[in-house]
Amino acid sequence: SQLFLPKSRSAPPVVFHYFPIIGSAITYGMDPYTFFFDCKEKYGDVFTFVLLGRKITVALGPKGSNLIFNGKLSEVCAEDVYNPVITPVFGKDAVYDVPNAVFMEQKRFVKSGLTSDNLRVYVGQIVDETEQFLKNDPKFAGFKSGKSAPVDIFKAMCELTILTASRTLQGEEVRQNLDKSFAGLYHDLDGGFTPLNFIMPGLPLPANFKRDRAQRKMAQFYSEIVAKRRAAGSAEGAEPSQHHDMIATLMEQKYKNGRPLTDTEISTIMIALLMAGQHTSSATGSWALLRLGSKPELIQEIYDEQVRVYGEPDGSLRPLDYETSKSSLPVLDAVIRETLRMHPPLHSLMRRVLQDIPVPPTLSANTRGTGLRQKEGETLIIPKGHNVLAAPGVSAIDPTYWPDADQFLPSRWLEGGILKSEEKNGGAKSEATKGAATSNETVDYGWGAVSTGANSPYLPFGAGRHRCIGEQFAYLQLGTIIATIVRNFDWKIDGGDGKIGKTPEPDYTSMVVLPKLPCDLLMTKRETA
Ligand code: HEM
Repeated sequence: SQLFLPKSRSAPPVVFHYFPIIGSAITYGMDPYTFFFDCKEKYGDVFTFVLLGRKITVALGPKGSNLIFNGKLSEVCAEDVYNPVITPVFGKDAVYDVPNAVFMEQKRFVKSGLTSDNLRVYVGQIVDETEQFLKNDPKFAGFKSGKSAPVDIFKAMCELTILTASRTLQGEEVRQNLDKSFAGLYHDLDGGFTPLNFIMPGLPLPANFKRDRAQRKMAQFYSEIVAKRRAAGSAEGAEPSQHHDMIATLMEQKYKNGRPLTDTEISTIMIALLMAGQHTSSATGSWALLRLGSKPELIQEIYDEQVRVYGEPDGSLRPLDYETSKSSLPVLDAVIRETLRMHPPLHSLMRRVLQDIPVPPTLSANTRGTGLRQKEGETLIIPKGHNVLAAPGVSAIDPTYWPDADQFLPSRWLEGGILKSEEKNGGAKSEATKGAATSNETVDYGWGAVSTGANSPYLPFGAGRHRCIGEQFAYLQLGTIIATIVRNFDWKIDGGDGKIGKTPEPDYTSMVVLPKLPCDLLMTKRETA
């Protein structure tokens, strides 16, 4: 298509590669961030690379993210890219298997369930699950006060994430079955949630047959819960639900045309929430605990904050509660925020280009690296048929925007921390947003007002119509789990000879960015716990 573009228009520079179809698959796949920074140096903020026969155009920086996240529906489409891997896992009639307008209504249903009333209940439930886990799980159960032992923290966070999500969002029936049938189904379903299915969807792999079987059974499991609750509800005479979970919310919702959700829609949305929240939160929690283990003085700061906010005169700590945790724990909050700056779970967010997209001059002006072919005055066009890729994680660690960008410094988010005057932006230098549209306008996609400007160098939850709706829940879940662990344990990464070890390197080969194994923390039970 490049050949037929008028002379004044040009396509983005193409990343040099030796093998036609494979393209940059290996360098991108092994370490996307090194690949993106190298390409940015050579080609600028907008460039195209070949990934197994497909042309992917990357748009970096806050303006690049803005172009993609706030692209018009007529220009960019998420479902064309995500459907092949997502729909066989989540199921039919929701999310990417329906027109975007319907999905936007479904996001509204979920948001309407995340009320303060429900979140308040969740804090207590998450504390309870975490306390039980620390008491009974074999990884923690043997600890005596003051004694230390290594714990595989990645495994622990995976288990804690699904335990707490099922107790809260998923509901008691899922939680009760977690140790039984549900765990096996989850395992098989998750086995089909792989990057390979993005690249080559529909391969007749044994894992995909297992996935399909697990999807059917899990959908049936949710339908049975809905049927039982309906029967119980009608027996009691249509009382408002006593459940605080998302199944209860979805059973009460109606589309704009007055139609309630079908059982299939409910099960697909419930599986979507399960999968969307599990990998992102367990990865973020693991990174947070590992980063803290490489700077144990921060663990002490979190503990001191707990004492300051929840301490009783007799030295005990009151239980965590929603109101306080929402507004009064800035250190804990800053640790999660900084973890998401350095380790956002999703490194590449994609859309299919439905019609040629002109790149705004302020963005294309940055596409003049050493490998440049674009001429002055030409309009840069991202051609129809390409995929576009946003990688907000690049600007989140770019030294142009952040002082000490490679350092884990939660204090950058605190008042009085580095670059205090810009604390809201985590110390991001003001050049970050210079020249970018600075409007505070919002747009409502049907599920809540979202800021139109994706101009921040920090967007771990995305932006625009596909922005995350789980952010609030994720902060609540991670904050409560981390605080509960801090109340009971101290820890460090064991570097041998009494030294502190390094945080593990990232592994980019699965659906989210995980810490490379081993992820052991040397944990010590607090004398007071
Ligand atoms: C979308 C990140 C937790 C549900 C997204 C997107 C990002 C993201 C970057 C945008 C995807 C895109 O533009 O293609 C995260 C992170 C999390 C997290 C970093 C935790 C640390 C959760 C949780 C839930 C959830 C706990 C559910 C309870 C969703 C949903 C979408 C979404 C429904 C919308 C997808 C769309 O509209 O296409 N998330 N997420 N996320 N997330 Fe999250």
